[in-house]
Amino acid sequence: MKIAFIGAGKMAEALIARLTDRKNIVAADVSRARLRFLSAKYKVKALTDNRAAFASAEVVILAVKPQQLTGVLDELNSNFEFRISKLFISIAAGIPLSYLQKKLPGHSVIRAMPNNPCLVGAGMTALAKGGRVTGRELRIARKIFEQVGEVVTVPEKWLDAVTGLSGSGPAYVYQLIEAMTAGGARLGLPRKLAAKLAVQTVFGAAAAVKATGREPAELRAMVTSPGGTTIEGLNVLARRRFSGAVIEAIAAAAKKSRALARQWAV
Ligand SMILES: NC(=O)c1ccc[n+]([C@@H]2O[C@H](COP(=O)([O-])OP(=O)(O)OC[C@H]3O[C@@H](n4cnc5c(N)ncnc54)[C@H](OP(=O)(O)O)[C@@H]3O)[C@@H](O)[C@H]2O)c1
Repeated sequence: MKIAFIGAGKMAEALIARLTDRKNIVAADVSRARLRFLSAKYKVKALTDNRAAFASAEVVILAVKPQQLTGVLDELNSNFEFRISKLFISIAAGIPLSYLQKKLPGHSVIRAMPNNPCLVGAGMTALAKGGRVTGRELRIARKIFEQVGEVVTVPEKWLDAVTGLSGSGPAYVYQLIEAMTAGGARLGLPRKLAAKLAVQTVFGAAAAVKATGREPAELRAMVTSPGGTTIEGLNVLARRRFSGAVIEAIAAAAKKSRALARQWAV
């Protein structure tokens, strides 16, 4: 299966780095330096010509910034071979299937919302498929994103909520790690040690939820003894509306995602 990446930035590299069949990958980008780097490191074919990359592939991954996408689609559309039907996967945040399908008539289109931990193979990607997409094409898309983490398929109407939660979510967790580190440092721990304790605590807590399959509330209760230390900390979080703040943050990010998507409404 030949795969073309149009736009070969951070997210494209995260995928390229983990796809095993690299001889079938072509990366296209405006930056020659970027392409030189990728072809040297990953031995992929690199092109500055988006149309040639498109023509050589069965699956086209659109990995440019949202504001660059219209230009790329118009450029591809001017290619004679554009009429040959392919599977397009767009990772551009906020650009709806209706717009993509209008610009890609006759092609199958899937929207993907990956997140930043894809860079280390621990990502969360949600896929939403357009009307023409076959079961085989969806399996191909799943297989690609399974190389960089977990994958779910959702109706497109959920993608704004997904963006607010798993798309923007890593930033909330990074902020939690920063705050835990600052809390340790304020009590006199060396900053490096505090950071190590904070990172491993967040990593371990997430791993415990995943590995045990238990509810976070159940695991929380297991480490919270009456009159102990943890309950003191949790009481502060409750007084400062920690959960409410997180819920509001997710809602605000989802609202912004909806507003951005409106610009592209067809
Ligand atoms: N990074 C994430 O965590 C994340 C998460 C979810 C979704 N996404 C989505 O993934 C997409 C890519 O994000 P990214 O972080 O990988 O961005 P990025 O690092 O900026 O990569 C985009 C690449 O495309 C190149 N490019 C610009 N115009 C082009 C054109 N006309 N033809 C070919 N290549 C072109 C850019 O070059 P220049 O830099 O020279 O412009 C850049 O190398 C975005 O749409 C974003 O919404 C990213």
